Amino acid sequence: MTVQTRRDGAALIVELDNPPVNAIGQPMRAGLNDVLDSLPIEGVTRVILTGRGRAFAAGGDAREFDGPALEPHLNEVINRIETCDTPWIAAINGIALGGGLELALACRYRIATPNTQLGLPEIGLGIVPGSGGTQRLPRLLGQARALELIPTAKAIPSEEAEKIGLIDGIADDPVMVALHLDEGSVTLAPRICDLPAPEAAPEAVMAARALAEKKLPHQIAPQRAIDLIEATASRSFADGLAEERETFLTLRKGDQARALRHVFFAERAAKAPDGLTADPVPLDRVAVVGGGTMGASIAYALLNAGLTVTLLESDAAGATRARDNVEKIIGASLKRGLIDTDRAEDHRARITFSPDYAQAAGAGLAIEAAFESMEVKQQVFAKLQAALGPEAILASNTSYLDLDAIAQTVDDPSRVVGLHFFAPAHIMKLLEIVQCEATSDAALATGFTLAKRLRKIPVLAGVCDGFIGNRILARYREAADTVFMDGSTPWEVDEAMVDFGYAMGPYEAQDLSGLDIAHANRRRQDATRDPNRRYIPIADRMVELGKLGRKTGAGWYRYPGGGGKVEDPIVADLALEEAHFAGRTRTEYDADEIRTRLLAAMINEACDILAEGIARSARDIDLVTVFGYGFPRWRGGLMHYADTWGAEKVLAELRRLEAEDPLVWKPSALLVEAVETGATLAEMR
Ligand code: NAI
Repeated sequence: MTVQTRRDGAALIVELDNPPVNAIGQPMRAGLNDVLDSLPIEGVTRVILTGRGRAFAAGGDAREFDGPALEPHLNEVINRIETCDTPWIAAINGIALGGGLELALACRYRIATPNTQLGLPEIGLGIVPGSGGTQRLPRLLGQARALELIPTAKAIPSEEAEKIGLIDGIADDPVMVALHLDEGSVTLAPRICDLPAPEAAPEAVMAARALAEKKLPHQIAPQRAIDLIEATASRSFADGLAEERETFLTLRKGDQARALRHVFFAERAAKAPDGLTADPVPLDRVAVVGGGTMGASIAYALLNAGLTVTLLESDAAGATRARDNVEKIIGASLKRGLIDTDRAEDHRARITFSPDYAQAAGAGLAIEAAFESMEVKQQVFAKLQAALGPEAILASNTSYLDLDAIAQTVDDPSRVVGLHFFAPAHIMKLLEIVQCEATSDAALATGFTLAKRLRKIPVLAGVCDGFIGNRILARYREAADTVFMDGSTPWEVDEAMVDFGYAMGPYEAQDLSGLDIAHANRRRQDATRDPNRRYIPIADRMVELGKLGRKTGAGWYRYPGGGGKVEDPIVADLALEEAHFAGRTRTEYDADEIRTRLLAAMINEACDILAEGIARSARDIDLVTVFGYGFPRWRGGLMHYADTWGAEKVLAELRRLEAEDPLVWKPSALLVEAVETGATLAEMR
């Protein structure tokens, strides 16, 4: 029974009971309908709706969203609650989100516990509120407020909710208050459906549209939510509800909502593999080696999670630089209001900076983020082995180096694991946990436990050049450079990918991270590169010219005065020159062709990664691409997108391109197998 009832004097108390968060599924809706059918009950003058456990209700049960809407529908249940002769009071004991808040809006009176969250975050799942949220909220609060909350999926604490009139009061025990509200407050409280239509707020509508276009470009749901809110000024309540329901149902079965649901569930399913039962080492003290870009932001992430950090650098000057780097992040977080001065002080008190590895003795885990050099890393691991206890787990943040070779430098290689963070590590949610040949279960379990403490999304990866994410990125860049050399400009490539949904294209992104990293990597790969594979030399020319990206004021673009990007004809000419040297005739690619090439190259590589067991599932590849590499979330990640495109179509494109370059475009055996067996890529592992 997901709805429990009990009498308390003249009140009927209705408890939502579907742990852990009282998600509103079909049985709960049916249970509420049964309660409504039982009313009026003699002697009952009020119904108090509340939740069991820590939540009031966190929203509709998204697991139902893939199928047809099941009766009774929430919107109908909610309309019945609102128009019920016995007045309902919402005693909001914990989070009230989505359908949960819509239930509360059908009640005459709303009392919430302090510090809880209320909001209509449906946009995050590619839908609009479907049970009156877009109609009742503007009637209660005005269009401007509703526009602040719904299209941005913003949840607010009860204190703010009370201030703006979303709830009527705050109490530690809202049920008790609801029981003792005087009869007049309950019966005279207006029903939202009886409130007059809100005034039109055209300026707020325009601002909301612009904000949604900027923050959630390409997404349909926010704009449709704004349409629905806008129309409340001129449309009857009943017509508004009907339109909202239709919009909700249409969006729910669309590609964007399917993709966003996929990511939502994938994110929640990202955890340690079944059967990994080993105990992690204690994580209270962690050593970080190297306090540059990565080490400093990893250290900050650890501090934020309440851990104590010893940051080891190569010498005293390095330790001072590391302190400055961490201090910069603390300062920026203070400025953005993410932490207060007390918290900043607490962070400072939990970190020490030193070149002396003995300072780290007692740490359960060390994370190395020194220079990307095998020699440096091997030295660091030898020092860590000497300074830390034999149980301590030794992790490396290397992007490309052979972790098995790093592991071999310590007596017990089972202690070594890869923890590949993304820049900046205190913000990016992805953590690739790389399993070496010898990695012990305890080391893996430590990685997954750390991810949980840091609230990161862990994805298990095997050892190969670039693991999951950087290996796909290398193909993406190779395809981009080929398109550039053979016919396009970097800005055309970037524009094509921004139109696809990336926040920035591959060239602008590389200008941010710096062209030198990939360059060093190419030099490392020189010895093992297949000599028959076409090599695009343009990026090397850029480095020769000192165009390393934003940090040198110019990369693929120029950044005069450190400002916005400007196209650089010299860069475009490099492709003409190189094509000329190579005797290639350049062709024109339209945006569709550019996208097809870049996406097919990535999907093909991802299929190999899956076939080789470097990734455990297509879903993990989706997580990596969305949370580490800016693949549009509303497209569900690379593999989900490939399935939406259709494995057969992807293969047909690869076959077409294979005629041009059989080595680069050779279709992955896994993709071929998927097409031959009629399976989706999601089903392949
Ligand atoms: P960085 O050059 O900013 O910082 C490296 C730091 O290590 C410097 O502060 C240096 O003084 C210190 N260091 C060098 N040798 C040392 C030693 N023997 N003992 C202690 N400290 C030493 O480099 P960055 O970008 O932070 O990269 C560090 C590692 O993280 C590399 O392995 C890199 O591949 C990896 N990585 C980098 C990412 C990025 O976006 N920058 C992303 C993910 C991984």
